[in-house]
Amino acid sequence: MIALVPGTFDPITLGHVDVVERAAGLFDEVVLAVLANPGKAPWFSAEERTGLAAAALAHLSNVRVDRFDGLLVQLAGTIGARAVVKGLRSGADYEYERAMALMNRELSPLVETVFVVGDARLAHVSSSLVREVAWFGGEIDSVVPPVVAEALCRRVAERRAGAS
Ligand code: PNS
Repeated sequence: MIALVPGTFDPITLGHVDVVERAAGLFDEVVLAVLANPGKAPWFSAEERTGLAAAALAHLSNVRVDRFDGLLVQLAGTIGARAVVKGLRSGADYEYERAMALMNRELSPLVETVFVVGDARLAHVSSSLVREVAWFGGEIDSVVPPVVAEALCRRVAERRAGAS
């Protein structure tokens, strides 16, 4: 069975990697889908986010990374994925994810959302907090893959140069 792990991944964190590793242990094939969330203005382009995710997940042989501009359920139909895997860190995540799961079911009853509880040691990690910490020069090496830490460092320098 094919599972999709969708998200903005701006950028991918070790919390995401943990969820994908858990999905890769459960499903034959996992596709990490880099999608657009209209409510977010990402730091990294879709191409950059896809490249960073592919590098961070290169150790998982049954995982590939795809990017898509339309609805998640359209992508699921195209690639034959019946499951969408989402990681839960907290009750707040559950409320947000529950609404999306129900909307996706409305759009396509064939697609089932499966929640996995991520590693408790990474429950505080989010892409937005990682970007904020990186922006102010804080240490992020323990919460993102090395390739992402390097990319964030470069992006912060570019954005700071652009803002001045
Ligand atoms: O990492 P995020 O931003 O929480 O992920 C949200 C994402 C990208 C999974 C969601 O916005 C999405 O599925 N976008 C694709 C378009 C779509 O299908 N929207 C309806 C979702 S119910």
